Parts: sequence; structure tokens; C-alpha cells
Amino acid sequence: MTVSNLPLDAIETASVDELRALQLKRLRASLAHAYANSPVYKAKFDAAGIHPNDCRSLADLSKFPFTTKADLRDNYPFGMFAVPREQVVRIHASSGTTGKPTVVGYTQNDIDTWATLVARSLRAGGARRGDMVHVSYGYGLFTGGLGAHYGAERLGLTVVPFGGGQTERQVQLIQDFKPDIIMVTPSYMLAIADEFERQGIDPRSSSLRVGVFGAEPWTNDMRLAIEQRMGMDAVDIYGLSEVMGPGVASECIEGKDGPTIWEDHFFPEVINPDTGELVADGDMGELVFTSLTKEALPIIRYRTRDLTRLLPGTSRPMRRMEKITGRSDDMMIVRGVNVFPTQIEELILKQAMLAPHYQCVLTKEGHLDCLSVHVEVAPNQSHNSQDALAGAAALAQDVKTFVGSSITVVLQPCGGVERSMGKAKRVIDKR
Ligand code: DLL
Repeated sequence: MTVSNLPLDAIETASVDELRALQLKRLRASLAHAYANSPVYKAKFDAAGIHPNDCRSLADLSKFPFTTKADLRDNYPFGMFAVPREQVVRIHASSGTTGKPTVVGYTQNDIDTWATLVARSLRAGGARRGDMVHVSYGYGLFTGGLGAHYGAERLGLTVVPFGGGQTERQVQLIQDFKPDIIMVTPSYMLAIADEFERQGIDPRSSSLRVGVFGAEPWTNDMRLAIEQRMGMDAVDIYGLSEVMGPGVASECIEGKDGPTIWEDHFFPEVINPDTGELVADGDMGELVFTSLTKEALPIIRYRTRDLTRLLPGTSRPMRRMEKITGRSDDMMIVRGVNVFPTQIEELILKQAMLAPHYQCVLTKEGHLDCLSVHVEVAPNQSHNSQDALAGAAALAQDVKTFVGSSITVVLQPCGGVERSMGKAKRVIDKR
């Protein structure tokens, strides 16, 4: 394990009191900005009978209403932006719960903050002066690739913007360019390790020293497996598009004790997902974030649906979060792509030969996730007929096109998918 030889940001060595004072100042400004410049927030605050001036302490934040993915969907695409569209220099998007993606925007200052925080994350993960970073997160509307990229450049490192896929070539370029750091989903790291072995190369012999892994849940056991197989240190980077992208929180290599939340830009709360009540630090619940500096899309009490707990700071004055253990909704993460059952349902409903009785079954093929959708044919249809098979093929194609995941469709006869007595169980995770 080697720690960074690059200087920390001043706030990373500040006292907790200094941090809290900065947070309160920024929180008040952020609430005022959202209220003054986003009609959606104004309406939400007014309906809750609360005004930004009512926030006199950090604890007062809990009086403000939550924001959810549905708010972003209802105001699709740009309705929640708090600056004129011309000041938005970048758009990203992630999966929505229906056909419409969740759209987010950034001003130049937002992009600068993001780069600074990913740079900080890389440094926490042990990036050193002169390092080369191989980025295998996808580039494009997904925040992984470009987020990682700008942060690595900001830190003054050499970036190889590979993106996802073409596993054989990933290995070739890692062998030829000799990067020190890789940024990739943990599951794809294992697929790259397999490819090393297929090519007869011991992955432990590669130049890679550190992996910065995120975009999907992974356990400490997975960390050990990757570290042993690759001969590297594995650290956890967390983030979500609605709040910024990768680098909302990231792990320090010296502790590997859960991501440190970059609290000077994002204020965390943990709530009981059923009641919305705050829980104490240390107790499990749903993570909620409020942005403290964002301009284009201020985000107030955003319900992430991620389940974790807040832990005291160790390497930094900021609090940590425990590695994410699950979600309070039914979003699946399949090879790094977020997939909601409701997205699949919408596409099933487009196929006349299929009935909307379905279940999503997640399994592992080697190290990679596989999603099969078990769906019934329409009443009075045979599940072996040519028409039914064509409907299944069309569904798989639609899911690939609109959701971005490859699925296997398993046709079931009418009544073949278990009926529920109450809430339908849409996801069966066998991974
Ligand atoms: O996945 C941003 C990201 C990219 C993070 C690259 C880290 C690395 P979204 O596509 O909006 O953004 O998905 C966000 O992914 O709410 C979590 O459920 C999950 N997630 C992200 N990072 C982690 C992590 C990006 N380190 C959703 N551990 C989040 C567990 C993670 N889950």
C-alpha cells in the first residue's frame, strides 16, 4: 500500500468545527439558490410551509421536503435546472424508472467542483505524481467515464480514456502502456482479470497498483478477491448522477474503511426509508444528500435509495459511509447499468404477444451479471409459437436499445409466472 505524495485540499485537514461552519454557510446559500431560481423547489418548499431563512442550523435541514427521482422525471428534461440553459455546459443522464431517463446538468463551476472531487478521490486512493490512469468506465451520458477522466486530468495524471468493452484490447493496452491505476466497475475488473489469464498473462504481473471501483455494490470479500488476483489495492468510489456522479464519496487507501463523504460539497443524512424520519449516525437507513455548492441542479434532500450508515471520520474530518449493502427500491445494477423493473414492464406492454406478468432473475455467468426476464405469453397463446418467439426477440432488442442491457427472455405459458398476494416480487437476485 502506498499513499499519495500529492498535497491535500485545505478542508481535508480542517477541524470538524470548521467543516460544520462551512457546511451551514453553504447550505443556507444552496437552499436560497434553489428557492429563488427553481420554480419546482419554490413550489415544494411553499407547499411544506418552509422557507430557506428557516434554516438556522444544520439540523433544520430535516424540516425541508425530500427530492426523488420522480421529481426529475416530472420535470423532464430540464425543468429542475436553476440556471438558464445557456449556462449549462454539460448534460448527463441515468436510468429513470420509466422510458424517460433522469437528466442532470452542470455549469462550468459544477464541472470544476466535480473534477476537484474526483481528483481528491484519486489522491485518497493513493494516486501519486506521474501516475497513469486507465479509465474503463463508460464514456457518454453515463457519468462514470467523463467524471473519472476530468478528475484524473485535474490531478495532473496521464489519462487513457478507454471506456467500456473490447476486453481483449483493454488487456493489450494495459500491457503496452503500463498504467498505475484503473477505474472500472469491480465486476468488469474480474472479467479483465479472466482475459489476462486467457492470454496466458498472470494479472499480478501487470503494472496496475490501485483499482478505483464503484458504480455498483461490492463487498469486502470481493475487495480481497480482486486484490489477491490482481496484486493491487482496491478502493471504493461512490456517487450518483443526481448528486453529481462518481466522487461524492471515496475511500482512503490507508483505512479502506468505507468511502469518506466529501462533506464540504454534499451534506449527508440517513433516514428510515419507511417513515422518512432521521436516524442517528451509526444506524442503518437510506442515504439522503443535499448539495452545498451545485449551481445548475441544486439537489435538496435527494433520496438515493441506497442503504448504509454514517460513520465517524478517520483519515479526514468528514464522515464516512459504510459500503453500500443494498437499496430500498427494486433498481437492479446489471454490469454497471441501472435497470428498473418498470422500464422492462413498459417494453413488455409494447408486445401484443406478451402479458405483463413477469419476473427479472439475476444470476452470475462467471463474474458477470446476467438478467433473464421470465414473462408470460398473452392468454390463449402458446409459448412455443413463432409469434411468441418473435415477441420475445423484439422485447430483448427493445431492452438493449432503450435500457442498454442484454437480456435473455424466458417465455412462460399463461399462469407460468408466480402471482403474488400483495406486492409483486419483480426481482429475484441469485447472484
Ligand atoms: O454509477 C456514478 C459512478 C460512476 C459511481 C463510476 C462510481 C463510479 P448512476 O448511474 O447514477 O451513477 O448510479 C448511481 O449506483 O445510487 C448506487 O446504487 C450505485 N453505486 C454507485 N457507486 C457505488 C458504490 C454512478 N461504490 C447508483 N457502491 C447509486 C455501491 C454504488 N453502489
